[in-house]
Amino acid sequence: MQIYINGAFYPKEEAKVSVFDHGYLYGDGIYETLRAYDGYVFHLDEHIERLKHSAKLMEMALPLDEDGIKKAISDTLARNGLKDAYIRVSVSRGPGEIGLDPELCPVPTFLIIAKQFVDYPKELYEKGVNIAVVNTRRNHPETLDPAIKSTNFLNNIFAKMEAKKAGAFEGIMLNHANFVAEGTISNIFIVKNGELVTPPLIAGILEGVTRGLVIGLAERLGITVFEEMFSEAALKAADEVFITNTTMEVMPVREVDDKTIGAPGKVTKMLAEAYRREALHCLKTRKLTD
Ligand code: PDD
Repeated sequence: MQIYINGAFYPKEEAKVSVFDHGYLYGDGIYETLRAYDGYVFHLDEHIERLKHSAKLMEMALPLDEDGIKKAISDTLARNGLKDAYIRVSVSRGPGEIGLDPELCPVPTFLIIAKQFVDYPKELYEKGVNIAVVNTRRNHPETLDPAIKSTNFLNNIFAKMEAKKAGAFEGIMLNHANFVAEGTISNIFIVKNGELVTPPLIAGILEGVTRGLVIGLAERLGITVFEEMFSEAALKAADEVFITNTTMEVMPVREVDDKTIGAPGKVTKMLAEAYRREALHCLKTRKLTD
C-alpha cells in the first residue's frame, strides 16, 4: 500500500507524520471519505466542495486546488492499482510548535489513504441493521459545528462506544433541542405514510453527500421529502428507517433500540436501487466521455 503525503508516495510502513503535527496534538484537521466504483470516484466534485467548505470554516488554506486534489486522488488509485476503493483524504494543520495558534503550522499535512473497498455484508442490506439512540449529544453548532468534517471526532467516538456497548450497528445522536440529529458516521431518514423525512442542516449535522443525492433521487421518483426536525418517538414510530453514507449508500434499519421497524420497506428499497443505478449511470457516462 502506497500512501500519498504532501506530493510524495510512501509504503504504508514508512508513511509517517510528525508528532508535532497539530492534527495529532489537537485533532486540528479535516477529512473526506470517498468511494470509487470501477475506477470512477463517485461525486468527487461534491466531496472536494465539502473539503473546501470544511477548510474555510476552520480558516485553513488547502495546499492543493481542485485539480491538484483530483490528480492526487487518481494518482493514489493508480499507484495502488485500485478500482473499487475506499479513499480517505485527510488534511491536518500540519507540524508546528506546541500551542493552539494555527499560525504555528505553516504547512498543512495532506494525505491520502486508499484501499480495496470491502462491501458491507449483503445480509445487512437484506435484513436491515439495528441502531441505538445514544446519550451522547451531537456537538452544538456553536461549539464545534458538525458541518465541518473534522478529524476532531471524539463526539462521534463517544457515541460509537455507547452504540457498541448496546450491540448496535450505528449510534444515533440527538441534538441539544432533543431532536434526532445523525449517526456517528451517517445521516438518517425516516418514512411515514409514504413521505420521507430527514433532519434539516440546522439540526446540527454534516451535510452528507449521500443525503443530498438521496433527497434528489426521492424528488425525481415523486416521493415527498421534508427536511424537518423529528423526535426520538417519531423515529421509533416510523414505517421505515434508513441511514446513508458514502460507503454504505442506503442502509435499511430493522430495529431502533428495542423497537422493531421491520424488513426494508418499499421506499427504502426504491431509493437504494435508484442510488445504485445512479452510481452505475455516472460510471458509464464517464467511460463514454473519457
Ligand atoms: N462519514 N454524518 C457524519 C457524522 C459522517 O461522518 C458522515 C460520513 C455522514 C455521511 O456523509 P457522506 O454521505 O458524505 O458520506 C454523515 C464518513 C463515511 C466517514 O466518517 O468515513
